[in-house]
Amino acid sequence: MANPSLLILPGDGIGPEVMAEVRRVIDWFGANRGLTFDVSEDLVGGAAYDAHGTPLHDDTMAKAQEVDAVLLGAVGGPKYDDLDFSVKPERGLLRLRKEMDLFSNLRPAQCFDALADFSSLKREVVAGLDIMIVRELTSGVYFGEPRGIHREGNERVGINTQRYTESEIARVARSAFDLARKRSNKVCSMEKANVMESGILWREVVQEVHDAEYPDVALTHMYADNGAMQLVRAPKQFDVIVTDNLFGDVLSDCAAMLTGSLGMLPSASLGLPMANGRPKAMYEPVHGSAPDIAGQGKANPIACILSFAMALRYSFDEGAAADLLEGAVEKVLADGVRTADLMGPDGGTPVGTTQMGDAILAALDAG
Ligand code: NAD
Ligand code: IPM
Ligand code: MN
Repeated sequence: MANPSLLILPGDGIGPEVMAEVRRVIDWFGANRGLTFDVSEDLVGGAAYDAHGTPLHDDTMAKAQEVDAVLLGAVGGPKYDDLDFSVKPERGLLRLRKEMDLFSNLRPAQCFDALADFSSLKREVVAGLDIMIVRELTSGVYFGEPRGIHREGNERVGINTQRYTESEIARVARSAFDLARKRSNKVCSMEKANVMESGILWREVVQEVHDAEYPDVALTHMYADNGAMQLVRAPKQFDVIVTDNLFGDVLSDCAAMLTGSLGMLPSASLGLPMANGRPKAMYEPVHGSAPDIAGQGKANPIACILSFAMALRYSFDEGAAADLLEGAVEKVLADGVRTADLMGPDGGTPVGTTQMGDAILAALDAG
């Protein structure tokens, strides 16, 4: 059988820096576990704009549709702030998500034991935390029409539209319930049904899908503003959270700080099954291009490396390999190896991106 194919899109800022460490991890699995991928690399975001005048070339889009999985670093940066909206780096990422129809974005927030004192919250609030935010990724206010900035009389008006169809809500709800069945069988759905009609529909449809197909899963509903507060007050009350595109974006950054650093959070964006049975998929860290530290070799590569672990698990059925990689990350953190974003109460000297990669490879060798 042909090797599974991976398209790597490092992107901008720290994207290429953290992706270089992922490539070493991929090579390690090829050399040591006979897990070989056909890897190709291409441009996205500002890097693609610089080369082609567009944040995602049509050829790259076509390649992304064909491969078994895409791995993306990060896009964006101040250099591109003044570009026309239509060619901003972020549009490249949004086009990938939309055209691949990656409607279910899994954003796990797990607090590794060694980092329980590193969160801005107390140890007892976060120790042992393991939650999964399922963010709807292809609809809602990110894509709704009408949108734009236009003139009304003497002033400009900015418009975006929150729009959800029943089927869009139902399919992301199903993916949350399916995941919950493999975890603690508990889903909390978050919206603003108190002020938004799309929120009322969201709540109704999630409840209907539950009652008809997943009565065994414990389902609760919460307003998203309360959800943000509860995530900080007592995050361990949650198992799976399902929410819309914009709330999911904000709540997952919030959840990141429960784990110690945004540099720790991976994600999987999944769509419908392809002809080979694998879901359409893209894996990317939750963080962005971190312009404030780009080019300094100090970014934490763990979010991107753990995104590859999610690829092993969700695209390639390689759960044991994913466990091995996650175990290596856990061991390195337990040994006190820290990038600069993880400088917490135990002090120490930070290592750079490459040294963190070295430590993870050494842990893989040892383990
Ligand atoms: P950001 O996530 O890039 O950075 C926020 C803060 O977290 C910064 O202080 C940064 O240094 C730190 N940080 C992030 N990742 C880190 C890592 N791996 N190691 C150590 N520290 C890390 O968010 P921002 O500053 O709001 O956005 C910068 C650019 O990135 C913008 O253009 C934005 O649109 C883009 N962005 C892209 C993605 C993506 O590609 N998926 C996600 C978020 C933001
Ligand atoms: C994320 C990012 C993106 C989003 C941007 C860069 C388009 O913040 O993946 O969390 O808002 O979805
Ligand atoms: Mn975000």
